[in-house]
Amino acid sequence: MGIGARITAIFGLGALLLSFSMGGLSYFTTRHFLLAERESAAQSQAFANALFVRSSLASGYTRYASMLASLDGASGSNSILVRKSKAYYPSSSITEASIPAALRREVFQGNAATQTYISQAHGHQPQIVVGVPIPSVDAEYFEVFSLADLGHTLRVLGVTLLGTGVVTTLLGLALGRFASRRSLRPLSAVSRAAVAIAGGRLDTRLGAEAADPDLEGLTSSFNTMVDQLQARIQREARFNSDVSHELRSPLTTLSASLEVLEADRDNLPPRAQRALQLLGDDLRRFQRMVGDLLEMSRADAGSADVFLEEVNVSELVERAVEAGVRGLGETGSTPQMVMGPEVQSLHVGVDKRRFERVMANLLENAANYGGGATVISVTTVGPDGSTVSANGEDKGDKAEKADRADRADGADRADRADRARHNTSTVVEIAVEDAGPGISAIERTKVFDRFYRGSAAGRRGTGTGTGLGLALVAEHMRLMDGETWVESSPSGGARFVISLPVLEGDEGPVW
Ligand SMILES: Nc1ncnc2c1ncn2[C@@H]1O[C@H](COP(=O)(O)OP(=O)(O)OP(=O)(O)O)[C@@H](O)[C@H]1O
Ligand SMILES: [Mg+2]
Repeated sequence: MGIGARITAIFGLGALLLSFSMGGLSYFTTRHFLLAERESAAQSQAFANALFVRSSLASGYTRYASMLASLDGASGSNSILVRKSKAYYPSSSITEASIPAALRREVFQGNAATQTYISQAHGHQPQIVVGVPIPSVDAEYFEVFSLADLGHTLRVLGVTLLGTGVVTTLLGLALGRFASRRSLRPLSAVSRAAVAIAGGRLDTRLGAEAADPDLEGLTSSFNTMVDQLQARIQREARFNSDVSHELRSPLTTLSASLEVLEADRDNLPPRAQRALQLLGDDLRRFQRMVGDLLEMSRADAGSADVFLEEVNVSELVERAVEAGVRGLGETGSTPQMVMGPEVQSLHVGVDKRRFERVMANLLENAANYGGGATVISVTTVGPDGSTVSANGEDKGDKAEKADRADRADGADRADRADRARHNTSTVVEIAVEDAGPGISAIERTKVFDRFYRGSAAGRRGTGTGTGLGLALVAEHMRLMDGETWVESSPSGGARFVISLPVLEGDEGPVW
């Protein structure tokens, strides 16, 4: 059970115990008091009636039944007279058998007695019976009082107290829930901050929302921890950036010297030519890796320059694809562009250099591992996850879902649903598809890790990559407020998707 549930339960249980013990106490006290009062009233009345009976009998009055009936009429009770072992009673409902045996015995022995009991004969009603011996006329007088009204009162009281108990318990639970929410609020601020930090927003600190005198220690040590973490990450990123930077100048010298040698290549013996070839390949690879590392460490250190410009999506994509294909040289094939008319007028905020690097990396990967990019598609996706199809008409939720289900396997669908929930604005999704072997579900997040080369790592000749390309793609997209993921293409190959928020209306850039 969580802390919140426990606090709620304790409040509820406390309210339950308190209300039921207070309710029980009031019930039994009231019952005792009312009963005692009724008993003493019954006794005084029975004694007064017994006196009347005695004087009547002493004066020789013999119409017992009518005498008792007049007494009952006046006092609302039932009288029984026993004289010379013969019982007289005016009402047939109360007979001699109504009197408990113990009380009868007591009275026949010459003692006045009172007993409260539940009558079996009268619908389990509580009754008080008072017995008074009248030895001077050789008689015993009994009077039975019904406590039905008292029973009713007590029942109403009991039900009321029970209802109050239930309501109090519910109020206790509600109070407990409120109290637990309140007391856990600073903790949820801590958890939100931790999530933000884990998501890369290292400047997140605990502020006023977690300000609670009892949690001061936690807040300050949390903030200190994040300060140290941030300082350390920045120190390391700076170090990486310095290393990459320092490596660049000797590399430039090396490549300049290599160019001189390459210019004279034909005059070199074949072995030296081969060595020169290997050196050249590795040097270019090394240079590219250092460039990538420098780019990455700048982003890590938070010192990356991002020049966002408002640009038209279709022009942007067309240009970047053209440049990317050109960059691939003879291995590059021109993919089919699928772009609806609605895309023509859309604008996004991008850093053109970064966007071109992203497209170049994706096209290069498609060429290296997927037999070349087949389709480049551009789609807009609304905040509710609905797409506008390539021919420009909104497909609506159902058709679009079916369409996606066709293409996506289970993991993709769950991912999409998750992303759609996070989207707060319309985004444009640009996908690079190929018809190669694709990327297995387990590798789909790993391929974006630095230096991850997957199955390509063991294979020589499948490109000369270092495994930094997709990590950089993700980093560039993050800097431009976009997202990156991979799914399966309709032909079973890989489909790398990047998404960028669309700039709304004519307000122009939003930064
Ligand atoms: N289109 C694709 N089809 C199949 N596998 C791919 C595809 N794109 C990338 N991969 C896999 O993901 C790995 C990581 O790609 P990434 O671009 O990060 O590195 P790289 O291409 O090996 O090196 P670099 O891009 O740094 O030169 C690749 O090594 C490859 O195994
Ligand atoms: Mg690559």
